[in-house]
Formats: sequence, structure tokens, C-alpha cells
Amino acid sequence: MTTNPPLLMTRDLLQITDLSATEIAELFALSTRLKANYPAYASTLAQRSLAMLFEKPSLRTRVSFELGFQKLGGGVTFLDHQSSPIGTREPVEDYARNLSRWVDVVAIRCQSHELLTRFAAASSVPVINALSDLHHPCQALADLFTLVETGIPIDQLHLAWIGDGNNVCHSLIETIATLGGRMTVITPTACRPSAEILRTADARACRSGARIVCTDDLAAVAGADALYTDVWVSMGEESLATEKTAMLTPFRVDSALMKRAGSQARFMHCLPAHRGDEVSADVIDSPASIVFDQAENRMHVQNALMLALLRPDIARRSHAPAHATTNP
Ligand code: CP
Ligand code: NVA
Repeated sequence: MTTNPPLLMTRDLLQITDLSATEIAELFALSTRLKANYPAYASTLAQRSLAMLFEKPSLRTRVSFELGFQKLGGGVTFLDHQSSPIGTREPVEDYARNLSRWVDVVAIRCQSHELLTRFAAASSVPVINALSDLHHPCQALADLFTLVETGIPIDQLHLAWIGDGNNVCHSLIETIATLGGRMTVITPTACRPSAEILRTADARACRSGARIVCTDDLAAVAGADALYTDVWVSMGEESLATEKTAMLTPFRVDSALMKRAGSQARFMHCLPAHRGDEVSADVIDSPASIVFDQAENRMHVQNALMLALLRPDIARRSHAPAHATTNP
């Protein structure tokens, strides 16, 4: 009997470039199967444990990881690090080595991406980035999965990012660079995405045929399939609030900007949103808004990821992901 290769070659998901285009496509296929038939996967993670270490607040990430893992039969422990950052009570490496003896996977939301890489290097179990200052890969996977569900072929997709070139923007850039399609990043010059992340993305884009363009010209929204924005002040950047608000106010997504994009344009946001700041209420609450689809899909793509990391026997690479069956 022949078996297909494992779905993922990576052990950790710290940023999107840990994944190949094929692996993302396979994760999306598995997400679709899970979403359609959770009962078939109900005990696939029985006796497995997830530890969640969070230095920052969360609604969507916390709930979708916790309840998602439980849906697959596993147990979860949440370690709140909002008032005592990871690495203050004991060295980060010791923390990782301890947890590796008890749990099967760790999800971390932290202030510094560098801490995440140190933790992952010392851990002998997979580590998932649940948001760092530089990346939010689970969000970007859910976002692209949501766009695929709308029926837009990725190679024809045009996503316009408007606002701050932040962690979510970085992960979307890396995802589109990997998969193909087009992303127009519209920010004030001082809020452009990291030059290093753009360089890495360019190398991937050469292979995938993706086009990533940065501009400060809002007219570049014309024809976009989706306009995506995020908070002007990310968690941990509160000291920059006045400066960023002043720079980003002209970049609010309102109905006039949606109109410039065209009637096909959807509205996207990772949430939490601030109505009246980065987006007007009439846009986020309009039929064009797919923000709650994005939020729901966080759970499905994260579950696909955890299944692929912990149960490669079940989450095998399929030969025809688009026509995968609903059984594990
Ligand atoms: N989008 C997102 O990560 O939401 P939370 O901060 O609520 O987890
Ligand atoms: N850029 C935001 C995303 C929140 C999900 C932040 O880091 O606070």
C-alpha cells in the first residue's frame, strides 16, 4: 500500500514563509473538509494538549484556538502573560523545555517576534505564532481561505491593503507572494511595511507570479476585489497613537473609497475594529463586509494546521485537494 507524503514539511508556523504554496492549498482543502464535517474528526486530537501563552489581549484567536482544539477532542491550557511577560520568571528556553514535556503544541501571542523564534528553537513540540509584532500568519491564512470561498481564483485576486503596514499586512504580503495574485499596499510613506519582509516576498513573488506594489495613492484601490484595513494603533504601539492617528486619518475606509474601488469590492478587517477611525460604520456593517466570515474561518484553518502538525497520518497530502472527500 502506498501512502501520500505528510501535508507539511515545517514543524512550526512562525510566519507564512514557513509554508509552500502547495502546503497552503492543502491546508485550505483540509479546512474545507473540517468545516463541512467536524463530527468525522471529533477525536482526532484526543489525548493531545495545546498550551496557549498570551502576552496581549485576544478574543478571536483565543476562542478559536481553544474551542477549535476541543472540537477535535484535545485539551487546552491558557497561560496569561499580560502582566508578566514570557521570560521574566524563568528563561524563555527553560519555559519551552518544560512545556515540551507536557504538551503537544504551543500557540504564542507575544510582543517580540524574536522571543517567538527563541522559544521555538528550544521547544521540541510545534510552536504556532498567534500574533507577534511582525506577523499574524493564522489571520492571513483565514483571510485568503475566506477569499477563496467567495470564488475568486487566487491568481486573479486583487487585494488592496489600506492603512498601517503592520503585522497583519506583512502576513498577507507573504501569503499573496507565495500563492500568486496581486496586492496593493496603500499606506502613508512612514507606515510602509518592513523593507526586509518586502524583499523576501519579492523573491517568492518571482516564482508565483504575484505582484506586490506599495503606494500612498488611494486611487490604486480601483478594481480591487477587497479592501482590507486594520487598527491604526496595534497592540504594544500605544505610545505612537497620536502620531499614527494623524498620519492615517486620510486612509480611513469609507463609502467614498469603497465606491472608488468598484461595486465588486468586499470589505475585510481582522478585527477588533474601531468604527469611525480606520473604517466607517456604514462600510463594516454593509453587505460588502466579510469580516465575520474571516473570524469564523480562523478556527477552521487553525484546526487544519494543528491536525497537519500533530496527526500527519490523517492530514495527508491529497492528490486532488479541490475534490477531497469529507471523511478523514
Ligand atoms: N484578529 C485577531 O487576532 O483578533 P484577536 O486579537 O481578538 O485575537
Ligand atoms: N495589528 C493588530 C492586529 C490585531 C488582531 C495588532 O497587532 O494589534
